[in-house]
Amino acid sequence: MKKNILVTGGAGFIGSHVVRLLVNKYPDYHIINLDKLTYAGNLSNLKDIEKKANYTFVKADICDFDAMLDIFQKYDITGVIHLAAESHVDRSIKDPFTFAQTNVMGTLSLLQAAKHYWNGEWKDKLFYHISTDEVYGSLDDEGFFVETTKYDPHSPYSASKAASDHFVRAFHDTFGMPTIVTNCSNNYGPFQFPEKLIPLFINNIRHNKPLPMYGKGENVRDWLFVEDHAKAIDIIFHKGRIAETYNIGGFNEWKNIDLIKVMIKTVDKLLGKEIGSSEKLITYVTDRAGHDLRYAIDSSKLKNELGWEPSLQFEEGIEKTVRWYLENEDWMEEVTSGDYQKYYEQMYENR
Ligand code: NAD
Ligand code: DAU
Repeated sequence: MKKNILVTGGAGFIGSHVVRLLVNKYPDYHIINLDKLTYAGNLSNLKDIEKKANYTFVKADICDFDAMLDIFQKYDITGVIHLAAESHVDRSIKDPFTFAQTNVMGTLSLLQAAKHYWNGEWKDKLFYHISTDEVYGSLDDEGFFVETTKYDPHSPYSASKAASDHFVRAFHDTFGMPTIVTNCSNNYGPFQFPEKLIPLFINNIRHNKPLPMYGKGENVRDWLFVEDHAKAIDIIFHKGRIAETYNIGGFNEWKNIDLIKVMIKTVDKLLGKEIGSSEKLITYVTDRAGHDLRYAIDSSKLKNELGWEPSLQFEEGIEKTVRWYLENEDWMEEVTSGDYQKYYEQMYENR
């Protein structure tokens, strides 16, 4: 069946990998990439596929209900993969309003547009919402988040994502809309905006700038290569069970300080520096407020039901990632110019 798939946030980090995969893999589908192009959205992430016949870009704000309805009508949307969001925890601490607006009201406006356009004809329709493991809160040293773990968000970002997840499930339970929610762990890879730990630190090592390590560097994250997340999204979009939740993770936990040391070795090696010499750049700074100690995802439901597993070992993924950032200096310069410089100075001065 011909599908017209609306991918929101397709000019961002994960969204661009999802759009690329779908456009290349399904020439018969029409992929409509809807993005507001905030500081985090960048069309140069999609240069390689932008001229493909089955791809359309639309600049719009998910909060604009009328615009969403027009897009559903104009492109006869049959499925939604919703990634558009404000995604950075530190920004949510400084400006929670924007997070509530985009992540909660934006998701609601998209849901309403889908409900209005599909008008109860749910066959072959799907609203697939991309969420995060951060909605589950923080773990101690033991245990994993499973799909039934109680929500316990701590940051304005995770609170806004949790609220959006609830709205999506409510649209299934109340109106019968076919929905799926997935909660994924930390992604890394090409095209990630350098406010996030891995690209920020690669860029700083390259420029001999301090590496601002929050607290004692003991927080633990579960890292997944972004292309593996995109593959999981493809499988779940096509084969996932309606009204289900699937956790997606890498079974790949790292303490921040250990992760950074591995990364430093890789960057030093590829830059021809003495291996480990950039460790002197590590600078311990004031911790993030409400900093969750540990995230760890149990993705065995996804493996058992749909056969998905991460394909890349972390060492291989990190080398691929570091190489990409070092070889794409122009991209880095483009996204770090202008407004981002101001953000960086405000974020890290006097910390
Ligand atoms: P990102 O910040 O790189 O990209 C977000 C995209 O959304 C940008 O292109 C931006 O322009 C767009 N956008 C923002 N507000 C919009 C609006 N009002 N209307 C239309 N477009 C808008 O984010 P990401 O890291 O790619 O994350 C994508 C999704 O995946 C988010 O929903 C996030 O919560 C979720 N997620 C991210 C991770 C991760 O590690 N990055 C992990 C799990 C889940
Ligand atoms: O778990 C999934 C989440 O992962 C996604 O939902 C979010 O969108 C994504 O941003 C990410 O959130 P984190 O807060 O875990 O990612 P971040 O890269 O900001 O930070 C990773 C860890 O590194 C975290 O423990 C904070 C720490 N950190 C981060 C920055 C930016 C530092 O020590 N120094 C820094 O400068």
